[in-house]
Amino acid sequence: MDTGVKKTGLRFYIRTFGCQMNVRDSEIISGLLTAESWQLTTNLGEADIIIFNTCSVRRHAEDKVWSEIGKLKKIQNSPIIGLVGCMAQAYKEKVFERSSRVDFVVGPNDIHKIPEIIKKVACQNMFVRKVWETNTRIRPEEIYHKGFYENREHAYVIISEGCSNFCSYCVVPYVRGELKTRPHNSILREIEEAIARGITKITLLGQNVNAYEDNGVNFIKLIELVNSIKGLKEFSFITSHPQDTTLDLFKAMRDLEKLKKYLHLPVQSGSNRILNLMRRGYTREFYLDLVNNYRKMVKDGVLSTDIIVGFPTEKEEEFQDSYNLVKEIRFNASYIFKYSPRPYTEAEKFPDDVSREEKERRHRIILELQKEISLGKK
Ligand code: 5AD
Ligand code: SF4
Repeated sequence: MDTGVKKTGLRFYIRTFGCQMNVRDSEIISGLLTAESWQLTTNLGEADIIIFNTCSVRRHAEDKVWSEIGKLKKIQNSPIIGLVGCMAQAYKEKVFERSSRVDFVVGPNDIHKIPEIIKKVACQNMFVRKVWETNTRIRPEEIYHKGFYENREHAYVIISEGCSNFCSYCVVPYVRGELKTRPHNSILREIEEAIARGITKITLLGQNVNAYEDNGVNFIKLIELVNSIKGLKEFSFITSHPQDTTLDLFKAMRDLEKLKKYLHLPVQSGSNRILNLMRRGYTREFYLDLVNNYRKMVKDGVLSTDIIVGFPTEKEEEFQDSYNLVKEIRFNASYIFKYSPRPYTEAEKFPDDVSREEKERRHRIILELQKEISLGKK
C-alpha cells in the first residue's frame, strides 16, 4: 500500500510559541515547505524535521522553548531540529552551545531560506550539521503569497515587520529589526488571494500598525482600502501604540462597516515616572484622554491593554497607579506581565530590584481586579 509518505518525502512538525505574528510566520514556513512537497504532520514522533518557531519577548517564553527542546532527547529517530524566530536572532550560533540537538538556527527575516537550509542539513552527518542564518534585513514579498492558512475562514495578514520605538524593556526592535512596512498593493493582493481561498475575516498584524506608511498610504488609508475589498466580511488589527493613535483612527473605526470595533492599546504602566523610564512617549493623562475620545467616538468599542508589573524601581505607589488606571478605565481585557530583563535592551542595565514574589503579588492583584471588572463586580 502506498502510504503517501514516499511520494511526498519529508514530514515536518512545527510548534509555535508567542504571538499572532509567530502564528502567521509558522504558516508562511509551512507554505514554503509544502511547496517543496513536504508534508505537515501533527505527530512529533513521526517527524523528519522539527521546527520551533520561538518568542523572546519575555524570559518565561524562552524558558519554555529550552525545556521543550530538552524533552526531544526522548525521541528515538534523529529528526532535523530547527530553532527559528526571535530566539534564533537573539542567540544566533550560541544556540548550539546551549543545545547540541539543534541543527539549524534561522532568524525571523531569513525564514525564506528554510527549505534550502533543510536540504543542506539533510546531506550532512548529524554530528556535524550546524547551520545558522540571521542576516537578512527585509523579507522577500513572495513568501506572503503561498496561500497557507491554518483556519478556513480567518487569516492573519502582516502589514509591517519590526518596530522602531525602542521601548526600554523590549527586545523586538533588536530581534525583528526596525520598522519595515510591506507595499500596500502586495497586502491588498494577499487579502484578495485569501478571499479566493474562502477566507472572509482578516486580522492585520504589526507591532505598531499605526506607524504604517507606504508611498503616501498611511494606516487610515490602508484600512479604507481593505474595507472596500469585495468578499471580505470583517477585519480587525493589532497592535496600536498610544503615541501614534489618532482621532482619525477612531473616526475610521466608527465609519468603516467591516472593521471590528476592537482596540488593543497597551498602556504598560499607570505611573508617569515608569512610563518615562519605559520610553513610551506619553503620559497617564494622555492615555486617559485618548480612551475617553475612543469611548465617545466608537460606540460599544471594545478595549484591551497590556501592563507590565515590577518594572525596575517600580514602587508600591507606582504599582497602585497601574491598579487605579485599570479600575478607572475598566478594560474589557487586560494582559498582565511580570517584568523580565531582555538582552540588548536599555532596561537590562537597570537594577531588576522588584523581587519575584513581589512581581507575583502585583501580577495577581491586577489580574483579580480585571477578573472582577470582566464579571461586572467592580
Ligand atoms: N518583560 C515583561 N513583559 C514584557 N513585554 C514586552 N517586553 C517585556 C519584558 N521585558 C510585554 C508588553 C508587551 C507584550 C507583548 O509583552 O506588555 O505589550
Ligand atoms: Fe516593543 Fe515598544 Fe515596539 Fe511594542 S512599541 S514592539 S513594546 S518596542
